[in-house]
Amino acid sequence: MEDHPLYSWWNFSRGWLIDSIAVLSPRMDGPTVTLNWPGKPNERPTARRHLFTPDAPPPGSWGNRLYHADNLPVLEHLAAEMPGAFDLVYIDPPFNTGRHFLLSGKLAGHAYSDRHENGLAGYLSQLYVRLALIHQLLSPRGTLYLHCDHRVSSHLRLILDEIFSPANLRAQVIWHYQSGGRKRSCWSNKHDVIWMYSRGEDFIFNLDAVGVRRGSIRRNHMKQRVGPDGTVSYTIRSNGKVYSYSEDDLLTPADVWTDISHLQQKDPERTGYATQKPQRLLERIILASSSPESLVADFYCGSGTTLVTAARLGRRWIGCDSSDSAIDICQQRLASGLFASDHTIYRPAT
Ligand SMILES: C[S@@+](CC[C@H](N)C(=O)[O-])C[C@H]1O[C@@H](n2cnc3c(N)ncnc32)[C@H](O)[C@@H]1O
Repeated sequence: MEDHPLYSWWNFSRGWLIDSIAVLSPRMDGPTVTLNWPGKPNERPTARRHLFTPDAPPPGSWGNRLYHADNLPVLEHLAAEMPGAFDLVYIDPPFNTGRHFLLSGKLAGHAYSDRHENGLAGYLSQLYVRLALIHQLLSPRGTLYLHCDHRVSSHLRLILDEIFSPANLRAQVIWHYQSGGRKRSCWSNKHDVIWMYSRGEDFIFNLDAVGVRRGSIRRNHMKQRVGPDGTVSYTIRSNGKVYSYSEDDLLTPADVWTDISHLQQKDPERTGYATQKPQRLLERIILASSSPESLVADFYCGSGTTLVTAARLGRRWIGCDSSDSAIDICQQRLASGLFASDHTIYRPAT
């Protein structure tokens, strides 16, 4: 039987079928389903200190830090220096588009490259080690938000399941925006994916800070009641119980965000840095998943959107980017405006 050509076909298909079912049903009991690719690192990275030189003497107590460096040694260093210190890490790494990104507007020059040795496999390998270190950096109630697009979101979801556990997947936020042109040959891709994973079972989530007022939308044929103080509520009886909702109740926003616009060409927030994200997006994430005393980080900070928003909301922060132009733009943004933020720049010691 085993010599029969159909046998090996069946064996292959059966394996594929079982793998596929497991991937489609990650809540099944049993071991976590993992993604493999050529060159996947065998070992998890280790925390170890590296030498970085500050551009000025850092303050005695806490000082915000901007690392102008590859984030791998920075993450290794922070995992040794302050493991578990971060309540929130947001990252928006390159999406493996194969493109070189340039500055735009009044600026000219190179922003960053999104080409990777060994293509997708190389891209996944370098993110895998960094995500494992970010996991070590999160506090017990900390959360990671990983911003990506439809090309790599499935791969990254499985990597995050492996590192964080599928039980700690909290949300797949879909950020839908209207921007640029429309394809004529197929659906236009107008959304990004933001994976939210917590370090543990209990995690910071401030409904009060991001909730939306329920308002006057009547749902499910509810009865309207106006209280003596003029407050409006809606009631419904179901299975012998009466449920009552006030117009002033806060609802958690759903996981599809359609109310935050992409930065338009003439948006005053635009810096000219390619792939800059809007502050409103970061504001929602920082308000929901950190407290005023939290330490917030972005290790692919680009033009510094996370850092300026964290500063405006009174959070301590650490940022990192390897691109010269990103650091220049971050510096300008952090130095200007009402919420200018003191910080020290660190570069690898030579
Ligand atoms: C998509 S952009 C981030 C844009 C950012 N969210 C903003 O609002 O401006 C990705 C950034 O990751 C940086 N980057 C890519 N690989 C890196 C690495 N290994 N270490 C540090 N930064 C890196 C790039 O220079 C680029 O600025």
